[in-house]
Amino acid sequence: MPTKPFFLGADWNPEQWPEQVRAEDLALMREARVTAATVGVFSWSRLEPSPGVYEFGWLDRVLDGLHDNGIGAVLATPTASPPPWFTLAHPDALAMRRDGVRLVHGSRDTYCVNAPAYRAASLRIVSALAERYARHPAVRLWHVHNEYGTWCFCDHCGRAFRSWLRERHGTLDALNDAWTADFWSQRHTDWAQVLPPRATQYLGNPTQELDYRRFLSDSMLSAYTEQRDAIKAVAPDGQVTTNFVLGGWVPVDHARWSREVDLVAIDHYPSTLDGTPAESAFAADTARGWSAAAGHGGPWLLMEHAPAHVTEHGVQRRKPPGMLARIALGHIARGSQGAMYFQWRASAGGAEQWHSAIVPHTGPTARTYHELRALGETLAASEGRAPSCRSAYKKAPFPTGEAGLPAAGAAGAGGGEVAVWFDEVCGWAVGASHLPAPVDYQGIVEGWHRALWRRGYPVDVVPPTATLAGYRVLVVPAAYLLTDESARRLDEYTREGGHLVVTYLSGIVDEHLRVRVGGYPGALRDMLGIRVEEFDPLPPGAVVTLDTGDLVTGWTEHLTAPGAAVLARYPDGRPAVTRREHGAGRAYYVSCDLDEAATARLLDGICAAAGAAPILPGLPDGVEAVRTQDGVWLFNHTDEPHEIAGRLIARGDVTRLPLA
Ligand code: GAL
Repeated sequence: MPTKPFFLGADWNPEQWPEQVRAEDLALMREARVTAATVGVFSWSRLEPSPGVYEFGWLDRVLDGLHDNGIGAVLATPTASPPPWFTLAHPDALAMRRDGVRLVHGSRDTYCVNAPAYRAASLRIVSALAERYARHPAVRLWHVHNEYGTWCFCDHCGRAFRSWLRERHGTLDALNDAWTADFWSQRHTDWAQVLPPRATQYLGNPTQELDYRRFLSDSMLSAYTEQRDAIKAVAPDGQVTTNFVLGGWVPVDHARWSREVDLVAIDHYPSTLDGTPAESAFAADTARGWSAAAGHGGPWLLMEHAPAHVTEHGVQRRKPPGMLARIALGHIARGSQGAMYFQWRASAGGAEQWHSAIVPHTGPTARTYHELRALGETLAASEGRAPSCRSAYKKAPFPTGEAGLPAAGAAGAGGGEVAVWFDEVCGWAVGASHLPAPVDYQGIVEGWHRALWRRGYPVDVVPPTATLAGYRVLVVPAAYLLTDESARRLDEYTREGGHLVVTYLSGIVDEHLRVRVGGYPGALRDMLGIRVEEFDPLPPGAVVTLDTGDLVTGWTEHLTAPGAAVLARYPDGRPAVTRREHGAGRAYYVSCDLDEAATARLLDGICAAAGAAPILPGLPDGVEAVRTQDGVWLFNHTDEPHEIAGRLIARGDVTRLPLA
């Protein structure tokens, strides 16, 4: 069985430092048993200081230095930040905002992905880079670009959008039909009239907006595959990826992109300090789901996360001691092939000079460096069964799983019992401003995941293309946009014995955002045995108590349940939560936004009936269990010690229980 490289390290920007600091960095990395450094991410102006003039000498020395120290390189292509000379020469290749304002140089990510000049210049520098380093022994992974996800509304995009639409819809009539163009006199009579969704007087066309995001996702994907293919042309065995940014604001359908990378790689920056363990579990379970559904079997890589802080509402909250290792090991237990940080050494200047780093401004005496070194030792020792990262790295890629490092054990990657459905395209549709109430799609999905995570169920987060058979329970939250094919697959899953939990605002519109009329949720109504007649979202602060005592905020509905048993009712006796036997399985409908305690109670009942059990029942709040191929890993995220299965776990600690 081929082993996979293991990545412990960070983004490293040696071009910002003199030789002597670079040498110190290499020694520090070696001492910390770092196995890889990501280099070159934003180095275009150093690599090509003027058009067609390349300066690779400094990068040769960087890669040689890494190799001499037994450290691999994740070699990035620099196309996320074109140099100033490019901007001056090609003003048409700068991104244009929705309101027609052309952005200028001075930050990063300021280019139009559809501008021919940008694509040509990108291909040139990437081909030159690939040719030079195709056989460099330090290169372990090619890292194309950085966090694809930019927006542009310029004429290049307009032209490309029209061709994309012709491909997707075929005829103008079909486009008009899909976009419901008879609403507000939007019927097009010539393709030239079709535009990107630029700034408008009032609400724009939601389907035009959704198609534009799909189009941008495909445009960026073609920019990625162009670079990938240029690398593979000279380095056919090279492993190529790009780092995904999580969060619905980027117009990138990562599940679809996962098929085009050799290793699914994500960056993860949680939004709250206290919520970091749950947010990290969600990110990891999502990445594993993308990897599995794309045919990679489940492994993935945490390409970036912050070593010492979490930015919470604009405030950098300091990560307490111990969190660095705990979060990294949690990701590794959930299938990551390592833990990479942004960044190795904190910049002295520039826009991110206050971002935390393994080596902060204080220098390597700082605790962050010592914590990373301790993590490096833990990973290398791995209970005595793993070879040291460094020595193993030189001879062969560092193995996981059989060598004693945690290896993902949840399904898709092998064994999860519960799945949560997550579709970024649906999230774009739900995020539109014309819905009956503001709805936070990812927040809802994460809420269901968090309820399961807190109760200790092994969970996979799965895209619509995932294999569903094998999960005892599948939760489908707020799947507003549901294709016919997805509806068919959910029906089949349930008839074959699955326990399906569908929440409010699911199955409402088709892929063109057209309501499936006749009673919501049109796509699933018969299977669920219910009929929703009206939505009744609640104003902020309003709380409704169901007859079960469960509390509801945010969303309620008026429905009848002609073919389902009623499990909970609104105060006026109307059905709120229902269940229907369907084939060999069951289909539940939750018409309201239950609070977390109620969600957990409901899930406990559903999971018990389906035969899905927590990894270790009755864990104290804040103690997390992850089942892997070589045991159950326990993470104590609390400030107190806990005794679990006869073993004392110190506060903030991580331990492994061998398999029974
Ligand atoms: C990431 C990005 C890095 C760095 C980091 C700061 O999104 O890829 O280059 O900017 O954020 O948190």
